[in-house]
Amino acid sequence: MDVADKKIIITGGGRGMGKRFALDFKRLGARPFVVDVEQANLDLLKNESGIPGMVVDVSDENQVVDFFENYARENGVPDAVINNAGITADALFIKKKEPEIIRFPTSNCERVIKINLFGVFFCAREAAYHMVKNGVKGVIVNISSISRAGNVGQTNYSAAKAAVDAMTVTWAKELAKYGIRVGAVAPGYINTEMVAKIRPEVLDRIIRNIPLGRLGEMGEISYAVEFIIRNDFYTGRVLEVDGGMRI
Ligand code: CAA
Repeated sequence: MDVADKKIIITGGGRGMGKRFALDFKRLGARPFVVDVEQANLDLLKNESGIPGMVVDVSDENQVVDFFENYARENGVPDAVINNAGITADALFIKKKEPEIIRFPTSNCERVIKINLFGVFFCAREAAYHMVKNGVKGVIVNISSISRAGNVGQTNYSAAKAAVDAMTVTWAKELAKYGIRVGAVAPGYINTEMVAKIRPEVLDRIIRNIPLGRLGEMGEISYAVEFIIRNDFYTGRVLEVDGGMRI
């Protein structure tokens, strides 16, 4: 798909990697629209770049259904959706801290699964619904993670990202007959606010395990998303961009 003039919805686009996608696609001549939970970030993006946005909680089914309905009515069906919104709530599954043994908090699990798994499910489903209804041969790109393989401290996040990969393949198989492609990008550790939250000594150890010896840059992930959108033979696969790291 040529990206020029294409309508691209980016979830979690108010800051971090999603914002970078929005700016890059605008530079490439597309028409990005971002959704996020922080109005202030949307206002900033609008002022900086003119890119429009709206507050939508991707984990709220009704909000997502209404948003896609309204977007399609006002702008037409999106040509591409990038499911980028996601959070972390890291903890050890069991932490032995004498004299206590601490369990992984259920609330951490619920929050991450709701946003990182159900959020992707709702947004992809509504995008696909409108694409199929209107005969639009669009693209859905899900942002997975290197943690999909199972990462220390990320029971919740790893489970959600493994599910994102499985949904990507399932939807690619089901939607191919409508001309809709579905792919995913699995970034490694990237220079984002999310990674900046990791304690410095823990992060140092992680970086030592990256063969290229550094964090990835947001532009390197954006380029992978662009590749999936542009390449009409790419579907049902997860593109790993992680500096060669395996976890
Ligand atoms: N590999 C192996 N062991 C690890 C480890 C790792 N990556 N990380 C932590 N551990 C071990 C520590 O060595 C320590 O073991 P010992 O007690 O035997 O020394 C034990 O786990 C406890 O570690 P902490 O002292 O750090 O425990 P904590 O409760 O203070 O913190 C934690 C636990 C929050 C999970 C913290 O270790 C942490 O932040 N780890 C990093 C988790 C991570 O990689 N998150 C990625 C966030 S970015 C992201 O998710 C984007 C993406 O897509 C990649």
